[in-house]
Amino acid sequence: MSVDSALAAPAELAGTLTGPLTPVHPEDLVPGWWRSAVIYQVYPRSFRDLNGDGIGDLAGITAELPKLADLDIDAVWLSPFYRSPQRDAGYDVSDYCDVDPLFGTLADFNAMMAEATRLGLRMIVDLVPNHCSDQHVAFQAALAASAGSPERDHFIFRDGLGTFGEEPPNNWQSHFGGPAWSRITEPDGTPGQWYLHLFDTSQPDFNWDNDAVHEEFERVLRFWLDRGVAGFRVDVAHALVKAPGLPEWGGRADGNSCDGYPGHDAPMFGQPALHNIYRRWRQILSEYGPDRILCAEANVDPLPRLADWVRPDEMHQAFNFPYLHAGLDVHRMRGIITESLTALDSVGAPSTWVLSNHDVVRHATRFGYDGHAPRDGDGIGSFDPQPDEVLGRSRAAAASMFMLGLPGGAYLYQGEELGLPDGINIPDNQRQDPTFARTGGERLGRDGCRVPLPWRTAEPHAGFGDGAAPWLPQPESFAGLARDAQAASPASHLNLYRRMLAERRALGLGRGSLAWAEAWCTDTCLAYVNGTTLVLLNAGRESVELPAGRVLIRSGQREAGDGLESAELPDSGHRLSPGEAVWLEINLEDAES
Ligand code: NOJ
Repeated sequence: MSVDSALAAPAELAGTLTGPLTPVHPEDLVPGWWRSAVIYQVYPRSFRDLNGDGIGDLAGITAELPKLADLDIDAVWLSPFYRSPQRDAGYDVSDYCDVDPLFGTLADFNAMMAEATRLGLRMIVDLVPNHCSDQHVAFQAALAASAGSPERDHFIFRDGLGTFGEEPPNNWQSHFGGPAWSRITEPDGTPGQWYLHLFDTSQPDFNWDNDAVHEEFERVLRFWLDRGVAGFRVDVAHALVKAPGLPEWGGRADGNSCDGYPGHDAPMFGQPALHNIYRRWRQILSEYGPDRILCAEANVDPLPRLADWVRPDEMHQAFNFPYLHAGLDVHRMRGIITESLTALDSVGAPSTWVLSNHDVVRHATRFGYDGHAPRDGDGIGSFDPQPDEVLGRSRAAAASMFMLGLPGGAYLYQGEELGLPDGINIPDNQRQDPTFARTGGERLGRDGCRVPLPWRTAEPHAGFGDGAAPWLPQPESFAGLARDAQAASPASHLNLYRRMLAERRALGLGRGSLAWAEAWCTDTCLAYVNGTTLVLLNAGRESVELPAGRVLIRSGQREAGDGLESAELPDSGHRLSPGEAVWLEINLEDAES
């Protein structure tokens, strides 16, 4: 239930709570750390460069893990660090069971795991099962073999259409732009078959109708489970299985994989046979005990279908991307939260909230616009309308506070605790996301959210590394936003995150539930009660009166501008500023007496 009967809301709330959502379901009684966990995404190439080559590395992660532990998170998810030609920043894997020399060695991985264990942090790794790199030994073998061979059957090869097979086998488009098929030259030098790649040409899709592919990935799972990982974030988990016959599909398939909703009839998404794969993987994880988890990166439409991914014998978590895309539209947010909690509760699963990751414009930048929201994968360039950085950062703090009060788990993306904006002035010749090249620059891609982190204000490259220039240029504002400066400023974005995460744990918000506080839900405000905490977001342009209750924390308690000068506390009397959120301790008995 959402509101403990021993407690009561202030007078204006009494009788106006709608809920509860997420009543205690029998499944909730199964202990599961992930149900309420805060998991921090590390994007290795942009985290910390210890060897001075301008790209982050595993040793850099190990060195800075204590600072993550200090944030009071539960686990870290690492984006790919496997051997890879890096055509899609490591999501093009050429060896699933080795570390790319760019990032270090397996010994470095072991050292990182040991440090994580010492600090009480779990480590989740990325699994990329939809496709590999064209340099993977299996794809090279397929190219060297003939049409119809067992080697080709590991992938999706087809003859082309047209008199000479010169047309692609169907009309599917790649997520990064252009056709989803490329034609090969056969070993005898003649123009040959076509292979499917939902992403870059260098990322051939595996054929999940082939048992050998299943066996290979089961081996990969065990390889990393044996090394102590706490689980896997499964890349494009909705795309592995394609509809029989690969039917033509006119729907949109050109977005980033985290963008939009592909439609429930897409022949390359959400096929029923997917679920058997994840059931099998769950069994394998269970052999290692109850604490290893699977998290789906799955775009699912309509939203209630997300529940199919987190049934008790399938995955543990599935990112709530509709929430990420809701912006600060309170009606949309409310609809998505209600629909998510209702649907997921029907299978006893928690929701997994997220606002930023390495595929989307950072929320501190998204919220710096009024109305205009850049489409994922499009990025922002210097000729585009520019965000208001200060406004964006302040709204981002409020949005994070609202999200971290919700019941369920949450993912944070590295740098959001610093309120970092996207990199905007990236010269075209330094852009690395394949989206940029494959669309002829029409879509700038995702480099903006991948800019290397600032650690130390006074050091070269804001302390990312003291050698070569970072692989993407850092905006000027990064030095002032560096972690060391923020750590020293009680009013910083970083210290707000620390306080929020500590308070969230102390209050047990992740394991709580939700009732809408109707008295405070308007066209511009959204409020809910979780346990004894009232969470209120003011997404409007006018300040609003604060409900009665003890202020636990408010998002405006941070520096007002770019610098780290002392806080301009917003109207801290009894009003909540525009773009501000608050957590209040409430007591229903006050209202009833
Ligand atoms: C989703 C990943 O998050 C993204 O970065 C990647 O480009 C695609 N999947 C392809 O692996």
